[in-house]
Amino acid sequence: MLILIIGASGFVGSYLSDSLSKEAEAIGTFCHRQPEVEGISSQGLRYLDVTDKESVEGLIRETKPSTIILTSALTYVDYCEGHQSEAYDINVAGTRNVVSMAKKVDAKLVFFSTEYVFDGKGGPYSEIDLPNPINYYGQTKLEAEKVIIENLLDYLIIRTTVVYGYQRNGKNFILQLIQKNKEGQVMNVPLDQYGSPTFRDNLAEVTIELIRKDKRGIYNVVGTEVMNRYDFSILAAAIFGLNQDLIIPKTTLELGQVALRPLKAGLKIDKVAGEIEIRLLSPKQGLEILKGQLVAKGIL
Ligand SMILES: NC(=O)c1ccc[n+]([C@@H]2O[C@H](COP(=O)([O-])OP(=O)(O)OC[C@H]3O[C@@H](n4cnc5c(N)ncnc54)[C@H](OP(=O)(O)O)[C@@H]3O)[C@@H](O)[C@H]2O)c1
Repeated sequence: MLILIIGASGFVGSYLSDSLSKEAEAIGTFCHRQPEVEGISSQGLRYLDVTDKESVEGLIRETKPSTIILTSALTYVDYCEGHQSEAYDINVAGTRNVVSMAKKVDAKLVFFSTEYVFDGKGGPYSEIDLPNPINYYGQTKLEAEKVIIENLLDYLIIRTTVVYGYQRNGKNFILQLIQKNKEGQVMNVPLDQYGSPTFRDNLAEVTIELIRKDKRGIYNVVGTEVMNRYDFSILAAAIFGLNQDLIIPKTTLELGQVALRPLKAGLKIDKVAGEIEIRLLSPKQGLEILKGQLVAKGIL
């Protein structure tokens, strides 16, 4: 059983790739940046550009995976708003290329989606609530979900959000918070954007269990609590021993972000919690584990 991880140079893909390589035959891909060597995932990554049909076809025909995990995406929400055709090419057309090959080699497709498929008027959302994206990134992810659902029988769509964790040279929210705080810089954080902070390592472990159990369909996989970004930052600051005065609450209107954000979002986890053994973690539990990792790496 060979697992192909498309996007193993990314935040979620690199951890998945490392975890899977320990017990299965796994091949990961990069596109624009080959990561510096750290962990199994960074060794021997293969080049693949999802927007290039021949690149996708070549590698999937050669490796004949039984499972394809697609973590690749253009993930910068504001950038997607201003670069819509690039976002469409990667997030929708790229997914279509992978779907077409998954069908040909009869592979299971595991796809990562987002709470941003919802409008944020009535969250937290379950898997059967009606999506209604309000920004272009969310639109492309929903469109990609549709391509998968219409063309494949064996697929797993994992919706997640506000993913935090350690990443070498990573720019995720929590790592930015630590860096700015250490430099004495203030960080403006939205007070009115609610979501479900999700520890990346926990997300990956649950994903692997869902694959092992051969689950199909849409699953929300997030942390156990819905909270706003400001409260999450303050909790992180308390756990990491950061200066909370440097974290400034702002409304989304005040922040003037390019793309609209779903405000009352968050995802319900009843479905996944009832079908897996691994426990989903609360933000406090995830941040405490992360603290141990950051201390061990000399970052905290
Ligand atoms: N992180 C979150 O908070 C979050 C929340 C909700 C959903 N998600 C979803 O989870 C997935 C993983 O997110 P992430 O945070 O790990 O993203 P990320 O760190 O930005 O990684 C994106 C990955 O996509 C690859 N990629 C970009 N363009 C590509 C192309 N044309 N062809 C092939 N690969 C390409 C990148 O490879 P190179 O860097 O080598 O180009 C990288 O490996 C995404 O689908 C995202 O939509 C993430």
